[in-house]
Amino acid sequence: MQIGGFSMAAWPVDTQLEAELTPIVITSSMMAAIGGMMFGYDVGISGGVTSMDGFLIKFFPEVYSRNQEEADSNYCKYDNQGLQLFTSSLYLAGLTATLFAAYTTRNLGRRMTMLIAGGFSITGVIFNGAAQNLAMLIVGRILLGCGVGFANQAVPVFLSEIAPTRIRGGLNILFQLNVTIGILFANLVNYGTSKLNPWGWRLSLSLAGIPAVLLTLGALLIVDTPNSLIERGHLDEGKAVLKNMRGTDDIEFELNQLLEASRVSHRVKHPFCNLLLRRNRPPLIIAILLQIFQQCTGINMIMFYTLVLFKLVGFKSNATLYSALITGMVNVLSTLVSTYLVDWVGRRLLLLEAGVQMFLSLVVITVVYGVKITDHSDKLSQGYVVLVLVMTCLFVSAFAWSWGPLGWLVPSEIFPLETRSAGQSVAVCVNLLCTFVVAQASLPTLCHLKYGIFAFFAGSVIVMSLFVLFFLPETKNVPIEDMTERVWKKHWYWKRFLDGDGN
Ligand code: BGC
Repeated sequence: MQIGGFSMAAWPVDTQLEAELTPIVITSSMMAAIGGMMFGYDVGISGGVTSMDGFLIKFFPEVYSRNQEEADSNYCKYDNQGLQLFTSSLYLAGLTATLFAAYTTRNLGRRMTMLIAGGFSITGVIFNGAAQNLAMLIVGRILLGCGVGFANQAVPVFLSEIAPTRIRGGLNILFQLNVTIGILFANLVNYGTSKLNPWGWRLSLSLAGIPAVLLTLGALLIVDTPNSLIERGHLDEGKAVLKNMRGTDDIEFELNQLLEASRVSHRVKHPFCNLLLRRNRPPLIIAILLQIFQQCTGINMIMFYTLVLFKLVGFKSNATLYSALITGMVNVLSTLVSTYLVDWVGRRLLLLEAGVQMFLSLVVITVVYGVKITDHSDKLSQGYVVLVLVMTCLFVSAFAWSWGPLGWLVPSEIFPLETRSAGQSVAVCVNLLCTFVVAQASLPTLCHLKYGIFAFFAGSVIVMSLFVLFFLPETKNVPIEDMTERVWKKHWYWKRFLDGDGN
């Protein structure tokens, strides 16, 4: 097989399929995956905090008083650029940090990059928990964002590298599972701290320290991946770690593959430039579009602003937090479903089924908000409130077994070795950029488009499902190093990029 112009032997799939799942792989994965929990906690905490009276009175008094005025438009109550900046600054910092993390992951190792992530996050938590003014709050969020940028770059790579091939998909989804657990944990915390007026928000923001400290301790305890150790010249240590992780002394073949991969990687001096070669365009285009599409489902409108959306339809404060807990639980459980289904029914079927489910639930939500909530109307009756909650759960569950985990899994498996880390870096960067845009633009769009924002997301779901139908190849059960031969060269559209020398 030709990879990046260098010849490599095909992976012996059977040998790799037999590799044991050893205790060191299990404990290391669990410790590293906490990076996902840190990300999830930061995603989940801001919505609850920004709807706490104590927080609004201290930092955004104008939003608080607007919230009290019945005469104001329902849809515009929470539209405040500063309030959005509190949520979205994290993603802007994260997408910038991820580009530096591509360097540290390669040159200092995955473990060191996780330690840097933990350090940034702990400092950010201190700023946030002790915040006296808006500037301290935003600085804290930016530091947390750097933590997320470094962690999201290193953790998925770490998980993929230590996993035996047969469970690489499952271990990859462990990252997303931790994201959803982090979001649920944040919702639970907000549920408790919302009763601690006026300082509950401080506790919510400070408890982000738990996943941050755990990730830091975890990073101190784990060893780096054999791939990274060998790539950075620590051959003996890399060999010892590989034996330990595979639970056998018979590592010759995998070791040779790692040595070869490391040689190839050293010869590719500019991985980001390599990514632009014609033959690498199919995975690059797909990785970028998957991230844009993941955010265009509107999931983070729900994750960040569930409380605002539920309040709009007339949920009381407690019921709002309670409902956020329900959607948080649906998110975790449905992600678990996908860990089982993804290698059985395949990626495409999950994405297509979810497309139909998300489209239908968004249409119902659009109609209920459109017909029932006018600018100064009374709130919805009990029946409609329950309908909105059920439709939100249907939407979240569909996302959680499709675009949520697959948005991270597919980019990690479709690039050839030579561009895999650069490709992953671009994917994380685009993901956080789109998350930033959604976080910053959601409330003004809700204010201007009103219920039309849900119709917009429904329309995007149609576009992305058509893309999946025609352009996303099935990668289930395809060995990662065989993608070029078995996927790209056979696809009705993408094969044209691999004709000739592919430059
Ligand atoms: C997305 C996040 C989202 C989360 C929800 C992740 O895959 O990248 O933006 O908030 O899923 O569970």
